[in-house]
Amino acid sequence: MIKVLFVCLGNICRSPMAHMVLTNMIRERSLENNFEIDSAGTEGYNELNHAGIHFGTKKILKENSVPFSEHYSRKIRKSDYQYYDFIIAMDMENIVDIEYIVGADRDNKIKRLLDYTNNPRNIKDPWYTGNFEETYADVVEGCEAFLKYLEKNNLM
Ligand code: 4NP
Repeated sequence: MIKVLFVCLGNICRSPMAHMVLTNMIRERSLENNFEIDSAGTEGYNELNHAGIHFGTKKILKENSVPFSEHYSRKIRKSDYQYYDFIIAMDMENIVDIEYIVGADRDNKIKRLLDYTNNPRNIKDPWYTGNFEETYADVVEGCEAFLKYLEKNNLM
């Protein structure tokens, strides 16, 4: 079982998008029984508000025929570090915030999603940019690269 936790700041825009996109990609490959995927945020305010997936993320997923279930924001916990094999952040700020919560990345589990591509970079936050199309393209590029990384390393 490959356990993946996507992490962003609020856990309502980028990390649930990656969560649903990767879930769909592995379903298309009939690999859903090999993966456990979840997402979380580094801030707790959306968990306190019981916030679901942002409208803009749901809209772009629908436009691209990516099925999704409801997901309620939760803050990453220290115990997530042990449990998950891959902790995949959206930007460098997320990585600093994750390490503040879980401690140092001793097992080298924490990367940005686009670090798996040939063009490592942050995924901009559509909460601020309003550009969910750009975020979606980056998320698809990153998830495809992540699956290639797993294949190349005989991890799936
Ligand atoms: P996300 O975007 O980290 O991609 O989920 C944000 C969502 C909500 C907030 C910030 C970023 N917020 O301040 O509530």
